[in-house]
Amino acid sequence: MRFSTAVACLSACLAAPATALAIWGDSAYAFDSNLKVPGENPIEFCSASRDGNLIDIKKVDLAPNPPKAGKPLLITASGEVKETIASGAYVKLVVKYGLIQLLSTTADLCEQLGNVDLSCPLEPGNMTLTKSVDLPSAIPPGTYSVLADVYSADDEPITCLKATVNFPRPGLSSSEDSEEL
Ligand SMILES: *[C@@H]1O[C@H](CO)[C@@H](O)[C@H](O)[C@H]1NC(C)=O
Repeated sequence: MRFSTAVACLSACLAAPATALAIWGDSAYAFDSNLKVPGENPIEFCSASRDGNLIDIKKVDLAPNPPKAGKPLLITASGEVKETIASGAYVKLVVKYGLIQLLSTTADLCEQLGNVDLSCPLEPGNMTLTKSVDLPSAIPPGTYSVLADVYSADDEPITCLKATVNFPRPGLSSSEDSEEL
């Protein structure tokens, strides 16, 4: 679980909190359209006012969406880095399983960027990121929520993303899922 969270964290920061969120399965959640991250994904921004954010996430696509346990997940994310992101940037990550808090931790953003072939400093500009993640086949069924709140070393907001996602219990999943069993 911690490894998954760490993997999640990596993309979370730069442009794709998708990785983390994707690990937890498909969405069972009514989105606020003002908060929905554009693209095929189960992700929302934490706040409707994001003008000061150092990274503007433009689009995140997951394939497949929703992600499937035991299947590779391809993440494509694009965004604009507005100001240089230097060492010291960090991610506050909270993962809940139902009402139970599984994890609440702070991770170094720059250390995590190596997982997606990036490094600090991240210079201003538009970027697209593609990453394939092998999802574990044994993911405990249930509803997960993930919050990734990212800040610079000076505590300027970089981005904040969240998702509430459900992993169906095998046998109680949708007909589409059942066909593959
Ligand atoms: C990124 O792309 C947007 C829209 O395509 C453009 O307005 C902006 O100037 C670009 N930013 C940089 C740093 O190139």
